[in-house]
Amino acid sequence: MQSEAPGRAVATSVSPSRLDPMQAHPATSRPADTGRAALSRVSALPLDSFRVEHLDMQVRRALSAEGVADELALADRLAGDPRARTRFRRSIAVSVTGPFRDPQQFALLAERLLPPLIAQGGRLRVWSAGCADGSELVSVGTVLDRLGGLDRAYLLGSDLLAENIARATRDEADLPPALRARLRWEHRDVVATPPPSGRWQLVLCRNVAIYLTRAAQEQLHRRLAAALAPGGVLLLGRAERIAEPAAAGLVPAGPHAYHRAA
Ligand SMILES: C[S@@+](CC[C@H](N)C(=O)[O-])C[C@H]1O[C@@H](n2cnc3c(N)ncnc32)[C@H](O)[C@@H]1O
Repeated sequence: MQSEAPGRAVATSVSPSRLDPMQAHPATSRPADTGRAALSRVSALPLDSFRVEHLDMQVRRALSAEGVADELALADRLAGDPRARTRFRRSIAVSVTGPFRDPQQFALLAERLLPPLIAQGGRLRVWSAGCADGSELVSVGTVLDRLGGLDRAYLLGSDLLAENIARATRDEADLPPALRARLRWEHRDVVATPPPSGRWQLVLCRNVAIYLTRAAQEQLHRRLAAALAPGGVLLLGRAERIAEPAAAGLVPAGPHAYHRAA
């Protein structure tokens, strides 16, 4: 994870949608486990949804870092060592982020994507899916403040890792009250579970799908597209695109950005 936003905001945690690894006491591997099944269970991560090349690389690194010979031994190590488990989880989920990451995307938001959404009037619901430590959502809130749209905004950040949500919640205390008051955080697997209820004027899902299998990417993009309000905007990361936007009811709205057809 990279550095924090200068201030971070208030938050409300929603019940975790899956086992909280910080509370869990995973059993060591079972005789019938394959290495990957044991790692998935012990890490409480849906390893099946991650690309095999990414998994292979992170598992190889973990074997070497933890000094164990194979995946079952690694699972046993993770089961007995919470810090090793956290290291492994973070390496798989990849929590790299930072304030105003990829500034050209924030320029696009400020100059082209957000002004029409603000001009519509009414509630402005923004969801950062895969928010890591919350820097991305706080950055959007800062832009909204500058554009005069913050007082109508509802800003939700969600992430697979409960520890990221705990961090976002903790750090928000430093944010200006007007921004803190708009922020909410929740623990959510955006591939395995439906989106949070309601329709969203802006969904950011940047640098999440790149680590996922093709099937998980398609599932994720379908879900995100369906969660948009008519005219709502989906912004992906700089290395991401939707192969057939029209099939999901989307039209291109800029580099790596899509509108939901009204
Ligand atoms: C590389 S970070 C990107 C953070 C931020 N969107 C950005 O671009 O700066 C990827 C984030 O996606 C989260 N993530 C990965 N798989 C997820 C899933 N199935 N559901 C929710 N979050 C997920 C990770 O925990 C991590 O915090």
